[in-house]
Amino acid sequence: MRRIENLLTAMTLEEKIGQLNMITANYAVTGPIVAGDATEGIRAGRIGNMLNLWGAEPVRAAQRLAVEESRLGIPLLIGFDTVHGQRTIFPIGPAEAGIFDEEIWERTARMAAIEAAEDGLSMVFAPMLDVARDPRWGRMAEGPGEDPYVASRMGVAKVRGFQGSDLAAADSVVATVKHFCAYGAVTAGRDYASVDISERTLREVYLPPFEAAVKAGAGAIMPAFNDIAGVPMTAHVRLLRDWLRGELGFEGVIVSDYNAIAELINHGVAGDLAEAAALALKAGVDLDMMANAYTRGLPEALERGLVTMDDIDVCVRRVLRLKERLGLFDDPYCRGVPVAPNARTGPAQRALAREVARRAIVLLTNKGVLPITGKVQRLALLGPLADARGDMRGPWFGAGYEQDPVTILEGMIAGLPGVQILHAPGVSITGEDVSGIPQALEAARSADMVVLAVGEAANMSGEATSRADPCLPGRQNELVDAVLNLGKPVIALVSSGRPLTISSLVERADAVLATWWLGTEAGHAIADVLTGQHNPSGRLSVTWPREVGQVPIFYAERPSGRPANPKDHYTSKYLDVPVTPLFPFGHGLSYGRFRLCNLKVSPTEVATTGVITVEVDVVNEGGVAGEETVFLFMRDPVASVARPVMELKRFGKARLRPQSSEAVRFSLPVAELAFPGLDMNPVVEPGTFEVLVGTSADETQLLRATVTLCGA
Ligand code: GLC
Repeated sequence: MRRIENLLTAMTLEEKIGQLNMITANYAVTGPIVAGDATEGIRAGRIGNMLNLWGAEPVRAAQRLAVEESRLGIPLLIGFDTVHGQRTIFPIGPAEAGIFDEEIWERTARMAAIEAAEDGLSMVFAPMLDVARDPRWGRMAEGPGEDPYVASRMGVAKVRGFQGSDLAAADSVVATVKHFCAYGAVTAGRDYASVDISERTLREVYLPPFEAAVKAGAGAIMPAFNDIAGVPMTAHVRLLRDWLRGELGFEGVIVSDYNAIAELINHGVAGDLAEAAALALKAGVDLDMMANAYTRGLPEALERGLVTMDDIDVCVRRVLRLKERLGLFDDPYCRGVPVAPNARTGPAQRALAREVARRAIVLLTNKGVLPITGKVQRLALLGPLADARGDMRGPWFGAGYEQDPVTILEGMIAGLPGVQILHAPGVSITGEDVSGIPQALEAARSADMVVLAVGEAANMSGEATSRADPCLPGRQNELVDAVLNLGKPVIALVSSGRPLTISSLVERADAVLATWWLGTEAGHAIADVLTGQHNPSGRLSVTWPREVGQVPIFYAERPSGRPANPKDHYTSKYLDVPVTPLFPFGHGLSYGRFRLCNLKVSPTEVATTGVITVEVDVVNEGGVAGEETVFLFMRDPVASVARPVMELKRFGKARLRPQSSEAVRFSLPVAELAFPGLDMNPVVEPGTFEVLVGTSADETQLLRATVTLCGA
């Protein structure tokens, strides 16, 4: 700490504010404002941090300016959105979440950290842990799905993967957990809109993933753009200072989102930049990303007595401390390995990318046409996503090489060597031109089977991409209907950043797969599943609606006084659409056939300080080896507060050869059944709980037992 105090003593006000300033280098444009050249600002100590700059040489050049040409030589902290891969691109958030495997979640973050550090980065703006239950919101594509327990476990795994065991290591980067919080609950699914949720939902759903990530050692947090009930997160004293730093003891750095401090004026809580800067600083926001609000607003805020020099020093200390923990003072150039200009992803990286991509694919329906057998000699591959290399990376593709991803067409050709592949896009993703449909139909007529590659463009999900009607865009439905009317076996691949409303396609196609955005090895992974090289094991991390009118839709709803009953008029349902989803959370088919049986819970009576053991047998009754995911849900049917119809508490795996079985065992401390009581304090209430075990949130398919919690 001596070094930091000495620096603080030596720093001018401008240099202190410079350490709170983060400016983009425009290698990627991720916000509404782009910056000019940072050279002079770095030399003068006005820019102490950067984002959207990567590559060993450019980073070294910028770092040298700071370390060797500025007055105090304080190294730069440089961050980037390595959301699901840096150079090697992995499946997008909800797809990777659907693997339900903490080990793989950590492995992909570890590889991303190595590649990000090779690119000279010391900070990544990931993991994104926004629980999302509204597919109109395009940023569902970045996150962990709808469930807070999954989001929490994924957050822990990602923090460990990014930060490694030593933050100062040359292949470690600091994780910036984002966006804090409840961003996924924006009004009407419209990005950046206001959020108005109950304190209870905040504590039950949106805070837990950030608590888990902070307890795992996350070094940075990014507040969300939104307000919650009128208090913008960037100025949220109660949640940033009192809860995050006070209750959780978070000592890391809070970095604002892009221009978010200045946008406090738009929110209507600051009259000018000085007030906006003061609000954010007082709430504990250390870094001003691309608003220049601290640079332009803090000197005046100081003069007007809105902040004190101590307030500024507190934030500067945290930033310098993080740079020290990252080893930047000891060796500012320790990160950065030059790569050849035409470098491509290597075999080891591709192998991991392919494994993860295969496991992320969800087989939604299969009327017996998959896997593709040797009888297929001519296959028509139709649709605008068949040969869409860039889109395979998804919306946040890091520094992924544009030429790297394997297209679906390339994957099918490589995966079906003896089959003639007839390719025709038919229509574009969003265009109105249908003149290509006849050619596509001609290919289909001459084929034994049709694979339809449909969906969104990658830039139709991610930030600022809300869709009021998340259907197949453009004229794709016309292509789909025309192909289906031919009566050929049709397999549909749906590439998207969110569930799309595809009820008709699901009803008529012979098989449908959710292929999300799978990254560098997309085409090979898809072919691996279609040919049976990989028995599909992906599951849905989000509920898939029939219609957008059902949204927000998620499994962990509270029961209502009149739970839905199609046979009873006066119950919670629609006149025009079933109240059930098209596919429930956890849904996903295999080429095998698994059965769960012999559910055991012990003890059947347990103290509130005890541990519950739940065991279930998984039997592979099919003819192929495969992987089944088992979910443990709990329900508290009578409590001081109405509790959700079920809540996920554990997930596990069974990997089984044909005709074999194994027991999956869960250990659940009763303390994890705590919930915010009437006074919002965590409480574990004695009483009988339902234990629900199954392979999805479809209540009709769950094995049930009970356990009774006695007093302490
Ligand atoms: C964007 C995003 C955030 C990202 C940041 C830097 O606006 O909201 O997720 O990390 O800016 O690119």
